[in-house]
Amino acid sequence: MTKTLTIRRPDDWHLHLRDGDMLRAVLPHTSRDFARAIIMPNLVPPVVTGDDARAYRDRIMAALPADHDFTPLMTLYLTENTDPDDVAAAHADGLIAAVKLYPAGATTNSASGVTDFTRVAPVLERMAQIGLPLCTHGEVTDPEIDIFDREAVFIDRVLDPMRRNHPGLRVVMEHITTSNAVDYVKAHDTGLAATITTHHLVINRNHILAGGIRPHYYCLPVAKRETHRLALRAAATSGDPRFFLGTDSAPHTDANKLLPCGCAGCFTAPNTLPILAEVFEQENALDRLEGFTSLNGPAFYGLPANDATLTLVRETPEIPAQIDTPEGPVTVFDPGMPLNWTV
Ligand code: DOR
Ligand code: ZN
Repeated sequence: MTKTLTIRRPDDWHLHLRDGDMLRAVLPHTSRDFARAIIMPNLVPPVVTGDDARAYRDRIMAALPADHDFTPLMTLYLTENTDPDDVAAAHADGLIAAVKLYPAGATTNSASGVTDFTRVAPVLERMAQIGLPLCTHGEVTDPEIDIFDREAVFIDRVLDPMRRNHPGLRVVMEHITTSNAVDYVKAHDTGLAATITTHHLVINRNHILAGGIRPHYYCLPVAKRETHRLALRAAATSGDPRFFLGTDSAPHTDANKLLPCGCAGCFTAPNTLPILAEVFEQENALDRLEGFTSLNGPAFYGLPANDATLTLVRETPEIPAQIDTPEGPVTVFDPGMPLNWTV
């Protein structure tokens, strides 16, 4: 039985760090294990311009523990007023690694997102020219569309037309939750990839809703039925380089989760690697963990893999149920299974 597993240091290709006290409380849980992360721009107000991204990057670096080696890869929040020149300048400066598309109203702090996709065509055109990836929150917001269908409908109504209109545009389908998304990625191999979260490899919609409602499992896109979870596990553990880790670790205080209308998000930064090791071992794919966490993402983004390594040992990890923050406790994602690997 394998007792230790050494992999190149992982990166997280989709992460929410927030700001201020929350940033200082959650960042070390990522920077301890991960060398880099794509930082989501859905602050209030959002990170819209190159100047916003520079200031946010400086706040992240100021919050970093002195002995941690971590590089935030910044993103801009795409609005209908985004200036293509500002985006191109931020990219040329090496400041941003991607632009994030939120359909307006799709998720937490997405009110400034896109409603009329024709209005962002000039930005997408420029991004295609300069090779800057677009990260998509792939859900339509049409109230007529059932929440469990919103990802599949987004692919048909928004993503596929957008990719046809902008053939060179590199796209990362973020936090995919359906076999439809897996199939779409596999069928279109140029400039298209997808991130998969830790929690969507572990829970299906029954975990949220059967036998009582569990707000800590509520996130967006919401977990789907079991067949979809199995498709995600197969994709993540397949070795296909188009699939890589984006945890979407999204801290909210318990006070904001446990409400009549609670926030969406699972906080997985503290235990993502033990959970992933468990999942990959269950799928007899421990030898493919490194590809998913440490190789496929950099390859898509055109960055070198990390030289440093991280070692997992077969020991029961000590994971706190919650972390304390000045804003209140934040519950750590409970995978609902024993974990046997420790970083
Ligand atoms: O569950 C989620 N939480 N999904 C998102 O898209 C946003 C995130 C957040 O910012 O809390
Ligand atoms: Zn997210």
